[in-house]
Amino acid sequence: MKNRVAVLHGINLDALERRPAAHYGGLTFTALEQRIGGYAHELGLEPVFFQSNCEGEFVEELHRTPDYADGIVLNPGAWTHYAWSLRDALEISGLPAIEVHLSDVDAREPFRHLSVLEDVRAGRVSGRGPEGYRDALSLLKEVLT
Ligand code: DQA
Repeated sequence: MKNRVAVLHGINLDALERRPAAHYGGLTFTALEQRIGGYAHELGLEPVFFQSNCEGEFVEELHRTPDYADGIVLNPGAWTHYAWSLRDALEISGLPAIEVHLSDVDAREPFRHLSVLEDVRAGRVSGRGPEGYRDALSLLKEVLT
């Protein structure tokens, strides 16, 4: 059974509790990862967590994901909107991936409307807060079974 999930967070997500609560809810990043871990286990999935503020490190982690995961849930933060290297690295991974955003990116500034992952991801959840990760993990589970 394919149930191993790489849960990848990108730039500035580690400082989540210092970011506008109106968009991000004031949760610490540690608490967010704990919530995601709980959702994953409820669904019978095994999460492995990674976060980086360095684009190259994030790309290298994407390259490594086939060694330890069957699928990916990722929130790349602002890289989502301009870092085409992530799009290519996700394609290289060959794994199904669900893109998640805590905030409703389509209802925010125009620069947040573009996602470089659009043609390489299997699904996307946006604007559902931490619960969105449960939706993303469920979507990934469907893709994996
Ligand atoms: C985000 C949305 C991005 O536009 C922003 O740059 C982030 C967080 C979200 O989870 O809502 O850092 O990915």
